[in-house]
Amino acid sequence: MSHADDVNVRKTFAIISHPDAGKTTLTEKFLLFAGAIQSAGAVKSNKIQKSTISDFMEIERQRGISVASAVMSFEYKDMNINLLDTPGHKDFAEDTYRTLTAVDSVILVVDSVKGVEEQTEKLMKVCRMRSTPVIIFVNKLDREGGSPFELLDELENKLKIKVRPLSWPISRGSDFKGVYNLHNQNLYLMHSQGKDVIAVTDLKSKTLEEHIGAKYAKQLREDVELFDGVYDSFDKFHYLSGELAPVFFGSALNNFGVKELLDTFVEIAPGPGAMMTESRKVLPDETAFSGFVFKIHANLDARHRDRIAFFRVCSGKFERNKFYHHVRLNTDTQLRFNTPAAFLGQKKELIEEAYPGDVIGLYDKENFKIGDTLTEGEELKFHGIPSFSPEIFKELIHTSMKAKQLEKGIHQLTDEGLAQLFTFTYGRRKIVGTVGQLQFEVIQYRLKHEYGAECRFEPLKFYKACWITSKNPVMFEDFCRFKADSLGYDKDKNLVFFAESEWSLNYFREKYPDIEFHFTSEFQK
Ligand code: G4P
Repeated sequence: MSHADDVNVRKTFAIISHPDAGKTTLTEKFLLFAGAIQSAGAVKSNKIQKSTISDFMEIERQRGISVASAVMSFEYKDMNINLLDTPGHKDFAEDTYRTLTAVDSVILVVDSVKGVEEQTEKLMKVCRMRSTPVIIFVNKLDREGGSPFELLDELENKLKIKVRPLSWPISRGSDFKGVYNLHNQNLYLMHSQGKDVIAVTDLKSKTLEEHIGAKYAKQLREDVELFDGVYDSFDKFHYLSGELAPVFFGSALNNFGVKELLDTFVEIAPGPGAMMTESRKVLPDETAFSGFVFKIHANLDARHRDRIAFFRVCSGKFERNKFYHHVRLNTDTQLRFNTPAAFLGQKKELIEEAYPGDVIGLYDKENFKIGDTLTEGEELKFHGIPSFSPEIFKELIHTSMKAKQLEKGIHQLTDEGLAQLFTFTYGRRKIVGTVGQLQFEVIQYRLKHEYGAECRFEPLKFYKACWITSKNPVMFEDFCRFKADSLGYDKDKNLVFFAESEWSLNYFREKYPDIEFHFTSEFQK
């Protein structure tokens, strides 16, 4: 096999959704189809039901032990498919955003009863930022709900992407008959015993009446005619460029519409793509190896501070025990990995090599932080792992004498991406920023149990952290002097302004027109 052949058989994607839409159920059905698991119930939901610290720690501990749930690889139709897991809890949304930097496409699951929910919109925004190709699966058609036309409208309006149905439901709820797949022109019927597949290449054919009766046949013809007039036909190029999302309808729980979705995914989803770095585009078929860390999972065992860095291979070939250059450390130290792991189905396996698109687990002793790059020597820094402005800010105050442990702990936990750490320019006070309340509890718990350091958090009334830049040094200096008490640095020493409210941010935007206020840490410098 040539290197290009190894690349072309890989597809790396994530299933994303608002909690409860059916992500875990769909994941499990995919793994069952592929034979990667044998029974239902094998995929554990990473949902945190009660939003309590003990609930979270228990789930993390279990995940830490099995770890496999962060990435599930399986073979299907001669393709090596890497399915990346994303956290279900909204407080950990940033983890999901980072995972999205390591995939080449996504399947977005929407609950047909609830429609587009808050988290769905946020996730889609990240996909749009990166022009990630998206397939939408509208789930739970076995439940009563609104019309598919209304749903498609809602998808277009709220997700801000053009849609094109590739399958169409025949009724829904207790009346749900099945779907007509426009892509492969088959009628899939849902029966209590299972399902039937009937080829219907011409919708005028009387076969329709035979199988679904006159009423539903008429309705289906009218529906298809209507949406053919409204929606552009499916264009693979527009899908691949992230402008158009094909839509499938089904019911994950009833295993209905799932195989068609997986088959179409394998057919149309992109393989490993080019990845942007600060200096150049890296292509998967380049021979020199490169890749980056997008997630770090602590083992949560207080006795060893082992962690697993999840690493996406972007070019060349990764080899076990070969020395690689760690770009950020930028020293002559080279790292090699004795026990790199791949995750087949739900099992962890030692690997000898890995190819672009693959996600591998590297055991790490505090060498990595999120975004770190390994290469064969080139100084590359991959784009697309921005920090977003946190929504909750608190000052970290130590309450034990163990200041050094606290310092070390908070740096390591924020390197894992659990929260963002800032330091005020004056006074060196530390600010921890998160998107959810739960993270503060997790930090407190882990600092205590893993580092033996106790702390408390003092709320700060900030609305957003904005990374600031300006081409006008005089105005910049003036602003920095005026707002000195609201300025800090992130961990990479970028200057950040903490705005107290939307109003004050707008006020400063007007007053200092040459200063740019960025909501993410990655922008055109
Ligand atoms: P998530 O990972 O996106 O959070 O969702 P998950 O798959 O855990 O599904 C959430 C709930 O929705 C589960 O029910 C699941 O059984 C149900 N569900 C998933 N797909 C369908 C579907 O096609 N039709 C219907 N009617 N329900 C579906 P639960 O009661 O919360 O959990 P469980 O006790 O069934 O595990």
